[in-house]
Amino acid sequence: MNIAVIGAGYVGTTTGVAFANYGHKVFVIEQDQEKLKKLRKSILPFYEEGMEELLKKLIANGNLLFSHHLEEIIDQCEILFITVGTPSLPNGEADLSYVEEAARQIGRWMNEYKGIVIKSTVPIGTGEKINKIIKAELKKRNEEISFDLISNPEFLREGKALQDALYPERIVIGCETEKAQKVMKELYKEFNSPIVFTTIKDAEMIKYASNAFLATKISFINELARLCDKIGVNVIQVAKGMGLDSRIGPQFLQAGIGYGGSCFPKDIKALLALATAEKTPLQILQAVSDVNQTQTQWFMEKVKKALGTLTDKRIAVLGLTFKPQTDDIREASSLKIIHYLLQNNAYITAYDPQGTEHVKKIYPTISYAKTPLEALKEADAVLIVTEWKEIIEIDWQKAKNILSQPFVFDGRNCLNSSAMHKLGYHYEGVGIPSIDEST
Ligand code: UDX
Repeated sequence: MNIAVIGAGYVGTTTGVAFANYGHKVFVIEQDQEKLKKLRKSILPFYEEGMEELLKKLIANGNLLFSHHLEEIIDQCEILFITVGTPSLPNGEADLSYVEEAARQIGRWMNEYKGIVIKSTVPIGTGEKINKIIKAELKKRNEEISFDLISNPEFLREGKALQDALYPERIVIGCETEKAQKVMKELYKEFNSPIVFTTIKDAEMIKYASNAFLATKISFINELARLCDKIGVNVIQVAKGMGLDSRIGPQFLQAGIGYGGSCFPKDIKALLALATAEKTPLQILQAVSDVNQTQTQWFMEKVKKALGTLTDKRIAVLGLTFKPQTDDIREASSLKIIHYLLQNNAYITAYDPQGTEHVKKIYPTISYAKTPLEALKEADAVLIVTEWKEIIEIDWQKAKNILSQPFVFDGRNCLNSSAMHKLGYHYEGVGIPSIDEST
């Protein structure tokens, strides 16, 4: 099939790559000429393992094409994906202006039946709104062309986007006609994944509810970790014991300094804003958001208490991205931590394998190291913010000789606490007894 994907961001590029990989001909439409030029040369505007190689292959075999103008290719495509951004507005609601503009363009240029698929994460009810916008554009042209509005949310994890796009655990499709169902079944024919057909609104809610539930698991364990910390209980063992119950499951129960990234914080804000607008408060979700807002602060107070003061202390901040295997620093805990340390007059040396350049733009005056060990030089304390492999694998025995004081605060519980204690470190994690009584 021939497909157009409007918006070459993270979701659009990955979606285009996945469909092209399964033999469809995909035209990715992007407004930004610079981005387009790079993509044509197989240069991604973000870091994602394995993606550039596949991009190169698909461009070479002619399945993946990039274009600046929807009007030039629209007649060749039966299915049009909208994958533009939906950033948060100051009141938490999702900004739909890019989605609306894409819809207007489609209405302006389409000449025959199209399946118009919204993949951008949009508030419940957006499908109906977009339907009206396209119809209004067609009316302006005195055209009565049929189309189906379809919702097909994405569940991509950064760092594993390719795997998630090529082998999704489920494909959710919200549509209202048999024709749309048929077209979408054909589109996903080569994917070996279960398809859930729902109404458009249900599909939109599935996306928000999934992210809200995952964030709930994280905030649940993070809040519990604060209590564990106080009463000498090891939250890692608690999560392990809980996770073996298949009704609970082990995933997303890793206590830490809070969730970040481009999805969870934004989507939770958007769902809360919708609930408020509908005068039906979501109390659990509000608490999830509140716990996440305060988790980094709670951790930093622990650090401050252990060190006595942060004034003039040299702190090594290891990890800047919101999670490993990405260069994304959106809503990353590292930003809150750097802010806190600067407010408390500490000196910072930061290290990250991928995110340094992005953070430099926000905090140009702090020091940045090229290797983890360089960051540790004469530091009074180490803060582990992101669990990158190269950070976990630091030779902590050797590191002790480089540090000024052997203090390690592990915001991701990624090191072995008893091993660190044996090496003579003052080691604190999130919800693990600082002197591990189990050893
Ligand atoms: C998430 C969803 O997983 C994905 O399905 C959706 O499409 C987009 O949002 P992503 O933001 O890439 O994906 O990252 P994810 O792996 O879900 O992690 C989100 C945040 O939660 C990270 O900051 C991570 O560090 C944190 N996290 C995750 C925890 O703190 N504890 C956990 O146990 C799991």
